[in-house]
This record gives sequence, C-alpha cells and structure tokens, in this order.
Amino acid sequence: MSPDIHNASFKALGIKARYESIRISKENLLEGVRTLTDKGFKGFNVTIPHKVEMVQIVDEIDPLAKKIGAINTVGVENGKLIGYNTDGPGFLKGLQQFYKQDLLKANVLIIGAGGAARAIVMTLVSNGVSRLTVANRTIEKASNLFVNCEQKGQALTINEAEACLEQFDLIINTTPIGMEPNKDKMPILLENAKQKTYVCDIIYNPLQTNLLTKALEKGCHVQNGVPMFVYQAAMSFEYWTGRKPDLEKMTEIVNTRLLQK
Ligand code: ATR
Repeated sequence: MSPDIHNASFKALGIKARYESIRISKENLLEGVRTLTDKGFKGFNVTIPHKVEMVQIVDEIDPLAKKIGAINTVGVENGKLIGYNTDGPGFLKGLQQFYKQDLLKANVLIIGAGGAARAIVMTLVSNGVSRLTVANRTIEKASNLFVNCEQKGQALTINEAEACLEQFDLIINTTPIGMEPNKDKMPILLENAKQKTYVCDIIYNPLQTNLLTKALEKGCHVQNGVPMFVYQAAMSFEYWTGRKPDLEKMTEIVNTRLLQK
C-alpha cells in the first residue's frame, strides 16, 4: 500500500515524483542502493530483510535510528545517504493521537522482541516513558532488547505477563500473531487485563485482530496498526519532500484497501 499512499500524496501536493516498489536481494543490497542513487532517486524506504544492514551503508544516521539499530527511510541529499527510522516515531505519533492518558506515567507491556519491538521500546524510552516490560516467547530476546538502552525494563515470559496483566495500562502487540497464518491465535490471553487497559496491535491486516476483538469484549480501548503505518509513511514523505501529506487521506486509502479484502 505504500506506493498508493505516497503517489496519491505527491499528486495532491503537485509534486512531480513517483514511489515504486523495487526488489533487491540480500546479496545485492549495496549494488542495489548504488543503482537507485545512479538513477536519481531522492530517497527510499527500506524493508525486511534490509533494515539492519542499511545502517552500514548510509553516510549519516539519525541518532534515534542509530539507537534502534535499524533504518527504514533513506534520504539522498547532495549525493549523501541519510538514514532514519520512522517506525518507532510513527508508532508513537499514532498512539499520541488516540491515547489520552499520561504516557510518561503509563505502565507499558510490549509483546514480542523483534525489530518492531526494538524500534518502539527505544522510541518510548527516548520520549521519557520509563515503566516498560517486554514479554516474549524467547525470554532472552526480551532481556536483550534493553541492551544499549538507557532505561532498563523488565523481561517476562508470556505466561508471567498473563499472570500480572492487571498492572499494565497499555499493552502493545508487536508479534505477527493475529495475521495469516496465525490469524486465529492470540499473542497473550487477556483474562487478567483491566477494563480500562489500552490494547494496541501494530498489525493492520486484518484491521481487527483476534487480540483486539477480545479486548473490545472486555471493554478495553483498542487501536490497530493503521495509525503507525500512516504516520511512519508521512514522516518518510516529509524527510524526502519537506511537505506534510494529508494524513486523513492516507488513512482513508489504507482502510478502503483493507476493507475490500
Ligand atoms: P519483527 O519484524 O518485529 O522483527 P519478527 O522477528 O518476525 O518480527 O517477530 C517478532 C516477535 O514475534 C519475536 O520476538 C518472536 O518471538 P521469538 O523471539 O521467540 O522468535 C515473536 N513471534 C513470532 N512468531 C511467534 C509465534 N508463533 N509465537 C510466539 N511468538 C512469536
């Protein structure tokens, strides 16, 4: 959906540009990036599996992207590659749009310890969120998430987190559990969640995961992955063009596409 939302935004703002998806194999990343700059691309997004490797390729890196250890956005400025990470900040902006409690006081549980979890943890910590727990199937990976992080958090197994779920104000799923082929599974059972807990899933396809359905049944507030997707795209767009795209239009395009599925 990225080409759709970026190209619609270029058109709406009268910017003569085109966003296209290009496949580059893991073995040919450096060569692939050279081809992009030779062709005159002003920037690009980077997705799995290149986000970590891109850190070694860019000429300059934004401090938060460095802390996260992954790049999802590159700007080409005067022949130099500047790397950014808009995944974490995009998530935070999406959250701030809807979460009306004080995030600095929130007790936050992150489920999963992969790249997305790291981006979110580092961004939350950089913005002053201090009460963080990561629960993961592999507990070592949850502990490792706090390596090189100025704020140490708690690492739990999924079962341990389930047993004390009532203490969390905000629960964020960063695992792929909830989308195909694990659409009917739950990353964590919500039996012990409080009614006023805010449950967030970074998955946007499906728009409502099983986790969010169960959270709604419990009376919790929920948020899907569309705001994160839209904000990370909007931030990339701003880095490339210096212009702000229409977030509502981007959201509408994403929701329409996903509702058609
Ligand atoms: P990312 O894109 O964020 O890097 P990922 O590495 O595919 O995503 O997975 C994110 C997290 O989801 C991982 O922490 C993974 O748990 P492990 O560290 O134990 O591998 C978790 N995850 C993925 N599939 C899972 C499953 N079927 N059950 C439980 N956890 C799962």
